[in-house]
Amino acid sequence: MFVFKAAVVGAGVMGGEIAQVVAAADIPVLLKDVDQEYVDAGLRRAREVTEKQVGKLVSKDKLTAEQGAEQVERTLALITGTTSYDGFGDVDFAIEAVPERMGVKHEVFADLDAATPGHAVLATNTSGLSISEIGDATNRPDKVVGFHFFWPASAMRLIEIVEGEETSQATLQAASNFAQAIRKTPVRCAECPGFVVNRILTAAASEIWRHQDETGASPEALDAFVTEQAGMPMGPFRVADMSGLDTVVKVAHDMYDAYGDRFHVPKRMEELVSEGHLGAKTGKGFYEH
Ligand SMILES: NC(=O)c1ccc[n+]([C@@H]2O[C@H](COP(=O)([O-])OP(=O)(O)OC[C@H]3O[C@@H](n4cnc5c(N)ncnc54)[C@H](O)[C@@H]3O)[C@@H](O)[C@H]2O)c1
Repeated sequence: MFVFKAAVVGAGVMGGEIAQVVAAADIPVLLKDVDQEYVDAGLRRAREVTEKQVGKLVSKDKLTAEQGAEQVERTLALITGTTSYDGFGDVDFAIEAVPERMGVKHEVFADLDAATPGHAVLATNTSGLSISEIGDATNRPDKVVGFHFFWPASAMRLIEIVEGEETSQATLQAASNFAQAIRKTPVRCAECPGFVVNRILTAAASEIWRHQDETGASPEALDAFVTEQAGMPMGPFRVADMSGLDTVVKVAHDMYDAYGDRFHVPKRMEELVSEGHLGAKTGKGFYEH
């Protein structure tokens, strides 16, 4: 299946960058959110990322400044911000990136089922919810598939292609092909809490979160230790801030519920979330942003 037009629903931490990734592969994409303010934030993020990527090509003399400026505008012109489902009638591949709650996912998948043509693949960027359960909200569970990007979506190459109970082989193949068309590396995985990457990543982060909760050690010091001693580009507290503490706490709870005590729900992070501090997206988390 060729994807002539895509759509991203949810223009938050992930959605703006996902739309940018699609547009950077020369594919037109709608970017929908519930409010114009959120759509605009997603479009701003797409512009920042595009300018940064093209700026690198200009600084390496691969493009002139004029060619770079043209390329930025050409890419961004492929993204259409919207607050409605008008325009979804000829979408071939939709990616949902709304908050990690089954009720919200169901609402969006029922809407997508009604708004898109019957052949369209409906993909979810869920970090760990059941693809099969999400698919229950549609009349095409065979075309519902996990399509899990990693933060920051513009830079991270991996996409987990997650198979629900009813996902067809044709849909899995279409999702893998589309991942490659947008210059990502697809990895197929089964439906289980955390899939592959979050199961590994959250297990490692759990040990550091637990240590911080038990000792009250400074998140900055622990992040510095991890970046300096383990050679990671960012420590777990900064990554959590950038990803959104509400999302990280939700994933931690889901992992704990599924696998028990070897995962840890970070208490300090839960406190920050209950105070409304969600990390970079609200300006404060473990760090000020
Ligand atoms: N943040 C991460 O690091 C990360 C990484 C991989 C996957 N994910 C997953 O991606 C999904 C989105 O996460 P996020 O961090 O971008 O969340 P976010 O809270 O930053 O953004 C979600 C956006 O969805 C919008 N929204 C809510 N209901 C909507 C609706 N009915 N229609 C359109 N838009 C709607 C919200 O207004 C918000 O702008 C979640 O399932 C999350 O688990 C997140």
